[in-house]
Amino acid sequence: MTVMNRKTAAIAPLTTGCVSLQQRYQALLAGPDESSATWLDEQLARAGNLLDDLPDTPSQLPAWSARQAAQVAEAYAGYLAQRRQGAPRRFFANRAQALWFLQQVAPTKAVDGAWLHGALQHWRDPRYHGLIRTYLEELGNGDPRCNHVLIYQRLLSRLGCLEGMQLEDQRYLQGTLQLALGQHCDAYLPEVVGYNLGYEQPPLHLLITTYELAELGIDGQYFQLHVTIDNAASGHAHLSVQALRQLCAPHDEQAFYARVRRGYRLNSLGIAAPDLIRQFDLQAELLAALERKRVYGQFMHADHCRVQQRTINQWLAEPGAMPAFVAALQAQGWIRRGQEPAQSRWWKLIDGPSAAMFGVFNAYEKQLWHDWIADDWQAPIRRVVPGSWGLPEATEEQPGTTQHEPPAALIERMAGNRHATPDGLSATRAFIHATGLLQEEPR
Ligand SMILES: [Fe+2]
Ligand SMILES: [Fe+2]
Repeated sequence: MTVMNRKTAAIAPLTTGCVSLQQRYQALLAGPDESSATWLDEQLARAGNLLDDLPDTPSQLPAWSARQAAQVAEAYAGYLAQRRQGAPRRFFANRAQALWFLQQVAPTKAVDGAWLHGALQHWRDPRYHGLIRTYLEELGNGDPRCNHVLIYQRLLSRLGCLEGMQLEDQRYLQGTLQLALGQHCDAYLPEVVGYNLGYEQPPLHLLITTYELAELGIDGQYFQLHVTIDNAASGHAHLSVQALRQLCAPHDEQAFYARVRRGYRLNSLGIAAPDLIRQFDLQAELLAALERKRVYGQFMHADHCRVQQRTINQWLAEPGAMPAFVAALQAQGWIRRGQEPAQSRWWKLIDGPSAAMFGVFNAYEKQLWHDWIADDWQAPIRRVVPGSWGLPEATEEQPGTTQHEPPAALIERMAGNRHATPDGLSATRAFIHATGLLQEEPR
C-alpha cells in the first residue's frame, strides 16, 4: 500500500518491443525472465523523472514515516467528520463501482508482496530479516486464513468476480514491477528497499476504501488487514525503514539512498487508486457488458418476445444497438429507473433462481444493472464488519511433502502467486521451520 504524493502523473509506459505488460506479467509468474531486468531499467529511468516526498537523508526517515502516518490519520478524521455531517461516499457511489475497482486492481493484489521474494535466499543474514518477515507475513506464514493473495481471491470469489474482466494493459504495470523486483533482488537491492518503503506506508485511500466497502456490505478484510499490519509503529512501514538502515552500505550511503529513491518512485508509475476509481462510468460499463453478451444472445430468444415492435433477436443482431435497446426497455416500462430494482420487470427476468434469464449475467453485470436501474434510489445501508464473512479453518500439515526439503527448493515454491496454492502454503510453513524463522507466540 503506497502513500505516494503524486506530484507528477506518470502515464502510459511503452512496453519494450511488442511485449504487453500482461504478457510480461504472465512470463514472470511462470518463472525466471531475464529480459525483465532491461525492462526494469526502463521503468526506473521513467520513474527517475518523477518528484517524490522522501527526506534528504535516511536518518530522517523515521520522522518522515511518523509524519506520514499522522497526516493520514488527520485526513481520515476529517473524512469521517464530513461523512457524519452527511457527505456522500468519496470513492464508491454504488456497489458496482466498488466491484469494478476490486477487479481493476486484482493483478496487483494477486502478487501482493512479490517484490520481496528475492530476499528469502538471504535468510542466513540477519540484515534481511525485516524484509523476510514482511514477505512471510504477506504469505500469512503459510496459513491460508492470513495469506494476503488468498484473502483477496476469496473476496473476489464471494463477490462472483473471480473470472476476471478484460483489463487495460496498464492494470498489469504495478504487478509486473513487483514480480520483476522480486526476481532481481540482488542486482536491485536498493531499489527493492525503496519500493518496499513506498508500498508499505498505509495511505489515506486504504482507510477510506475499508470504510466504504463495509458500508456497501462488502467484507473489506483485505484492506482492513493492511491498515493494521502495515502500521508505522511496529508493522511493515516500520520494518521498511529499518531494512534500509540495516542494508544501506555504510561507506556509500549517498549512492545507496539515491537508488532507494528510484525504487520508491516506481510506486508512482501508473495511475493512483483514487484517480482509477474516478474513471468508472456505470452506464458505459453496462452498455459494454451488454454489447459483449449481444453476440451470444442473438439467436436465443423466441420471436414472441418483442420490445417496441422488434423481436429481441432483431435487437441483438445489430451491433451498437444496445443504447437504443435499453431506452426501449425503459419506454416500454420494463425498466423503471430511480426506483428499487425489484419493481422493474426487467430485473425480475434476470435476478433469482426462477428468473427466465437466470445465469445470463454474472454477479458483476447484475450489479451494474441493479445500480443503473436504482440510479438515485438508495438501498438501506447494511454495514458489515471486516472479517465477518468468516474464514476457513487452518489446514493440517500434509505429511511427507515438504518437511525435509532444502530452503532453496522451498523458496522456488514460494514465488509469484504460487505461495497461495496448497503446495506453496505448505512450502512456506516448511521454510519457516527449516530456517528457524518461526515467530514465537506470547505465552
Ligand atoms: Fe499485503
Ligand atoms: Fe505489507
